[in-house]
Amino acid sequence: MKKIVLGLAAFLVLLQFIPAEKTNPPIDPQKTLSTDTTVLSLLKKSCYDCHSNETQWPSYAAIAPISFFVASHVKDGRKALNFSEYNTIEPAIKEARLKRAIMTVKNERMALPSYRYVHDNANLSLEEKKVLVAWFEEELKTLEK
Ligand code: HEC
Repeated sequence: MKKIVLGLAAFLVLLQFIPAEKTNPPIDPQKTLSTDTTVLSLLKKSCYDCHSNETQWPSYAAIAPISFFVASHVKDGRKALNFSEYNTIEPAIKEARLKRAIMTVKNERMALPSYRYVHDNANLSLEEKKVLVAWFEEELKTLEK
């Protein structure tokens, strides 16, 4: 038993030497989303840590294996939808993502439950969800024009 515990401890120590990729690529004002401050503040508190280049990396993200978990969410989140590149997303892709965004906010698939568990303020109230959904719908309309 002692050997297993020591082995595990050694493994966890060694794991700390494997860096997780925690980057914040530069923000280009031409590309990044600019909109109404209420909408922006909702997106920032609930979505931006994984869907922008303005990620606020939490201190516990320095510890492996949590670091791998957090970094992979940010990597995949940015790949799916990056508000820092919002103005350069192709209209067809933007349309698909906005439609999914409406669904994910309504059915609480986003923000990710594990994230909401540790970031209480990322839990959107019914009113806040309505504001976000209305904004996603408005954005969809601008694409139809
Ligand atoms: C903790 C990280 C995290 C947060 C916070 C987060 N997301 Fe995501 N999101 C992801 C990841 C990872 C994916 C890609 C994998 C997946 O679809 O589950 C994703 C995918 C998506 C997609 C594409 C889904 C699809 O099925 O095409 C949309 C849209 C989305 N997120 C919207 C949001 C919105 C809106 C918020 C805020 C209300 C948000 N996300 C908050 C991590 C996050």
